[in-house]
Amino acid sequence: MSLRNHFLLDPNVVFLNHGSFGACPRPVFEVYQQWQRQLEHQPVQFLMTRVFDELRVAREVLGRYVNCSADDLAFVTNATSAVNLVARSLPLGAGDEVLATDLEYGACDHTWQFLSQKQGFTYVRQHIPLPATTAEAIVAALWAGVTPRTKVIFVSHITSATALTLPVELICQRAQAAGILTVVDGAHAVGQIPLDMAAINADFYTSNCHKWLCAPKGSAFYTPIPAPNTSSNHWW
Ligand SMILES: Cc1ncc(COP(=O)(O)O)c(C=O)c1O
Repeated sequence: MSLRNHFLLDPNVVFLNHGSFGACPRPVFEVYQQWQRQLEHQPVQFLMTRVFDELRVAREVLGRYVNCSADDLAFVTNATSAVNLVARSLPLGAGDEVLATDLEYGACDHTWQFLSQKQGFTYVRQHIPLPATTAEAIVAALWAGVTPRTKVIFVSHITSATALTLPVELICQRAQAAGILTVVDGAHAVGQIPLDMAAINADFYTSNCHKWLCAPKGSAFYTPIPAPNTSSNHWW
């Protein structure tokens, strides 16, 4: 049986854009509908009591897959919401800088640009020369944009337009040593490449399950910013 038959896609269309919204395989879609039926069968009981245990199970399964504690995972509807959630919660203002690459996804780029105008910080879109040859060259190109005012580094794990995988592990390591918060947009990562949250060690990481993990639409997660630690030199 060809893979095509596992999907609900129009058989007359050669579907090449899995990246935008993903496509849900039949067996996954059927289980998704079973859940919707269970919810509609007993809406109050489902949403006020059962849902929390069921979400915990889902977070534990996903946590094992991405090497992260279930307690550090929260579900959101998409990566853009998660980036908005963190960007809008940071106390950034005049004199602060947020450093990104010139390869970031439009909606997330717009969020940082909008907030920079509203709150008075500077949003820097650092040029990454392409084709990128080594991880070190990418880090060096990005680091040319770091200044003593850089508070946040925002990067995609896999970039939208070019599908280039950025060396987020190296970036986060170096940023942490410099006291810079890291926000990683891994919208295309989970299900496409092996993902190890502990190894990446970003302060904030989000990924869409509805793209390459083939989950139903509106399935994404983020790993939240750790609670403020007064004994550290963190600024957030
Ligand atoms: C790098 C990147 N980030 C974020 C998104 C946005 O995903 P969503 O619309 O599910 O939030 C995309 C969409 O393709 C993307 O390529």
